[in-house]
Amino acid sequence: MARKFFVGGNWKCNGTAEEVKKIVTVLNEAEVPSEDVVGKFFLKGGAFTGEISAEMLLNVGIPWVILGHSERRSLLNESNEFVGEKVGYALSLGLKVIACIGETLQQRESGSTMAVVAAQTKAIAAKVSYWDNVVLAYEPVWAIGTGKVATPVQAQEVHLELRKWLHDNVGAEVAATTRIIYGGSVTGANCKELAGQPDVDGFLVGGASLKPEFIDIIKSAT
Ligand code: G3P
Repeated sequence: MARKFFVGGNWKCNGTAEEVKKIVTVLNEAEVPSEDVVGKFFLKGGAFTGEISAEMLLNVGIPWVILGHSERRSLLNESNEFVGEKVGYALSLGLKVIACIGETLQQRESGSTMAVVAAQTKAIAAKVSYWDNVVLAYEPVWAIGTGKVATPVQAQEVHLELRKWLHDNVGAEVAATTRIIYGGSVTGANCKELAGQPDVDGFLVGGASLKPEFIDIIKSAT
C-alpha cells in the first residue's frame, strides 16, 4: 500500500493574529488538500498550570497532536518514557499522533544516531497497538531552526534504518505502511530533493510553515 505524503506545519509559539491571517489566506487560496489542526498537550488534565490536556484538544476538535518534540525533551526534560506515556494516552482517546525523534549534533558526531532514535522509537512503540494513527517524525536536533538541513542522503539513511527497526521490532506491515516524515530546516528550496527519497514520506515544518513557501513544501511530492 502506498504511503500518503504527509506535511505538518508546526508554528510552535509563533504567529500574531495578523501573521496567522496572512498565512491562512495564502493556504486557502492555494487550495491545497488540508486536513486538521495540530496541538500539543501535557498528559491527563489536572493541576498543571499553563499546560493543555489531551481532553481539551479533543474538546475543541483538534485531532492531531505533536509529541516528543526535541524542544520539549530538552527544555522540559520530557524523557523517552514520558513521551511514550503521552503517545499511548493520546491514542487511547482517539487522537492521532506525530511522534518526534532525533539525535543531537554531539550524538551524531559520536556515531550514536541510530542507538538514540531506536531508543526513542522503542519507548513510543511500547505504547502503540494501532499504528494507523501514528506518524513518526525524524527531526535531527542540529537541523531544527538552524538552517542546517540534513542532506537527502542523511535523511534517507536514518528513515530506512527506522523502517528496518519497525520491521524487526513491530512487524512487516507496520514498517511498510507507517509514514516517516522529516523535520529540520525544510524550505521551499530543499523540499523537492528530500521528498524524492524513497523513505521520506513527508515533512514536519517549523519556520517555513509560517511563510507562503509552505505551499511549495506541501506540493513537493507531486
Ligand atoms: O517540528 C518542526 C521543527 O522542529 C523544524 O523546525 O524551523 O527547522 O523547520 P524548522
